[in-house]
Amino acid sequence: MCNCTCIRAGLSVSTQVAQIRPDDNPKSLVTIEREPMIGEAPQRAFDNWLTPNPLFYVRNHFDIPDIHCSEWRLRIDGVVSRNSELTLDELKELPRVTLPITMECAGNNRSDLDPPAPGNQFQNGAVSTAYWAGVRLKDVLAISGIGDGAEEVLFEGHDHGSPAPGEPEMPYLRSLPIDVAMHPDTLLVYEMNGQALPKEHGHPIRLMVPGWYGMASVKWLKRITVLDMNYEGFFQTDRYIIEDETGSTVPLTNIGVKSVIGSPSEGDTVRMGKVCVKGTAWSGGERIAAVEVSCDGGETWTRADVVGPSERYAWQHWHYSWTPPAPGEYSLMSRAIDARGKVQPMKTHWNRLGYMVNGVRSVTVSVRA
Ligand code: MTE
Repeated sequence: MCNCTCIRAGLSVSTQVAQIRPDDNPKSLVTIEREPMIGEAPQRAFDNWLTPNPLFYVRNHFDIPDIHCSEWRLRIDGVVSRNSELTLDELKELPRVTLPITMECAGNNRSDLDPPAPGNQFQNGAVSTAYWAGVRLKDVLAISGIGDGAEEVLFEGHDHGSPAPGEPEMPYLRSLPIDVAMHPDTLLVYEMNGQALPKEHGHPIRLMVPGWYGMASVKWLKRITVLDMNYEGFFQTDRYIIEDETGSTVPLTNIGVKSVIGSPSEGDTVRMGKVCVKGTAWSGGERIAAVEVSCDGGETWTRADVVGPSERYAWQHWHYSWTPPAPGEYSLMSRAIDARGKVQPMKTHWNRLGYMVNGVRSVTVSVRA
């Protein structure tokens, strides 16, 4: 058992929410790009099971749209019995659901890739956890009534622009298979950690697809269209796909099982004696069953202690108490196993667009007497 004390370990979920101070270090995202705004969570945000809103990573393709709640309407159309338009108040009348969800950008840790892949060079801060409150998408769709032959549901954001040089202007558009859209945990959310959804995270309403990489959770929702075919658009066919050696592509869906060591950090020096190795682990839509740690470069592995809340859609904090046998240099690694038995791969499958970087990472530390 690890004796080290972690600030949030062992606290109940409601206490964790109560302990979040929304004004904690408001402006300390690590900037990746200013226009459009892209920023990753700083390392210290990983000590909290819940990420304070101002430290939650942000990934925008276009400028943040200006939306006035009083004028905002959500249009529902396509293969439905009747088209609808909902105001924010009407939407909030539906039964409220709250879920803790970890969201990870598909390009998180892209900067680890060798050779490098183009795109935002995220380190490991494009992942964060919040309590999201809203309504079930299936309850919203029921208002319009899903028609026969519905295959997918398409979501359009209010933001738009040219997504890459030479590409025409377009809104942010993505679809979901009908079974994912109808899943009771797929939500349209209006609150994040007990506060109104912040502007940069999709105010007033965003889609939240638990367990999927972040690109699926369309922000600033404008329109929902039920389709009787498969949607093919830039953000589904040119991006957020993994190509295999033959050139065929697989769309990204669920987050790959992954763990990271939060401390000690790369290059740290620690003294002989007990060292508390701490980190985080998560997987797309599955609880974490175990985390193993190696302190000898992957030769031997020992189970770490899981600490804090264990939730289906949220990350798991863990600790491992390590007693180095002698002074010297050590390579520490962690690997996660989820409740379905999926094991974090030792190596990321390199891909041209640099997605799903979930291979085991190593942290080199020096131990001195
Ligand atoms: N929705 C819209 N409308 N526009 C966007 O650019 N970015 C997507 C997704 N939803 C995006 C969007 C991507 S790639 C990610 S990783 C998540 O939003 C990031 O959500 P966050 O900025 O709230 O962390």
